[in-house]
Amino acid sequence: MGASSLDLAGMLEELGRVTDEPGRLTRTFLSPAMKRANRLVAGWMRTAGLKVRTDPVGNLVGRLAGTDPRAKTLLLGSHLDTVRDAGMLDGPLGVLLPIVALAELRSRGVQLPFAVEVIGFSEEEGVRFASAYLGSKGFCGQLKVGDLALRDSEGVTVQAAIDRWHGGRGAVDARHLPKAAHRKSDLLGYLEVHIEQGPVLEARKLAVGVVSAIAGQSRFKLTWTGRAGHAGTTPMELRRDAFAGAAEFAVGVEAIARRTPGLVATIGALEVTPGSANVIPGAVMHTLDVRHARDAARRSALMEMGRLATRIAGRRRLVRRWQRTQNHDAVACSPGLGAQLERSVRAVQGRSIPLVSGAGHDGVVVSALAPVAMLFVRCRAGLSHHPAEFASARDLQVALDVTLDFLQRLASAQA
Ligand code: HGY
Ligand code: MN
Ligand code: MN
Repeated sequence: MGASSLDLAGMLEELGRVTDEPGRLTRTFLSPAMKRANRLVAGWMRTAGLKVRTDPVGNLVGRLAGTDPRAKTLLLGSHLDTVRDAGMLDGPLGVLLPIVALAELRSRGVQLPFAVEVIGFSEEEGVRFASAYLGSKGFCGQLKVGDLALRDSEGVTVQAAIDRWHGGRGAVDARHLPKAAHRKSDLLGYLEVHIEQGPVLEARKLAVGVVSAIAGQSRFKLTWTGRAGHAGTTPMELRRDAFAGAAEFAVGVEAIARRTPGLVATIGALEVTPGSANVIPGAVMHTLDVRHARDAARRSALMEMGRLATRIAGRRRLVRRWQRTQNHDAVACSPGLGAQLERSVRAVQGRSIPLVSGAGHDGVVVSALAPVAMLFVRCRAGLSHHPAEFASARDLQVALDVTLDFLQRLASAQA
């Protein structure tokens, strides 16, 4: 990595060991591991010369003033929370790489005219509380009263989690929701560096690419309620088996996604009640995650899935309940900022390709506040949300060089 004392690969490894679950990487919103992670990353931010603060919802913000006090601010960042049993790149790469880039510029004696803020968002994945983007929503003034009432698997609300994080009430409540950290007019834009989490860059033999759009996504909790009963004495035709209904729905959802180009649908979490081998499932709760780059396609697939659920519930005499936990339309990245990023990619890599992101990112929320650009970095086999997540040192160096080039071109454009 750069001439500065900060080594990106080593930092990713070290942060990748900060976990709530020994033996695997899991770091969720305002958890004890998040506190340790913020402390570690804050130290690296200070080494790079940034002034560090933590905002009311636990976002870590490192600020470097520009040489021109009237200049706007460029935001760079990503999330510091992870999925369960995660890899060490999804999120942290986009926080640590800008820190290393700023340390590198400092070691070269380069000062930027505009201010830069590096943000480690406290929650993007939606693991602890079903709704994602709580961090960037807090930073962008989009947190709603309803978000504070969300409960985790232990019944702890977001409000209580925030109170605990601050050692007592006061930081945030229904009457004091966090305001946007910046006015739109104060911002140059937002750049997020993130692993592609897909196979395209590897297939095209490229280290990096520029994201043109982020797919829309809808997430739900579905509950199927039938009747529990004795597994040995209840004839099949008399059963109202909640799991059999959910399973038929899952196969039907997969069939709809397979025949709809560009649609992906996932049932990632499932709970069976009462959950004994010799009891017919009386109730099943499962999640549903549906995404597409075109909102109309996602919406019509959801209608078809709704009709399927109604038919299954009717035939099996089950009661089903849909609870929407997240809904974000597709977001187009900024053509202007994207063009500037493309110039840097071509300068470093020779050529650039546009990519649509099937994964959601903090840029979805930040796009309401600032033009968004995203740089995707190749990851081995496109694997992510998995401990084997990997990006080569060479590709990390390319991403760092593109970011340095982007910052310096932006600086000369401001001069
Ligand atoms: O699920 C996603 O799209 C992202 O990884 N949060
Ligand atoms: Mn993720
Ligand atoms: Mn991510």
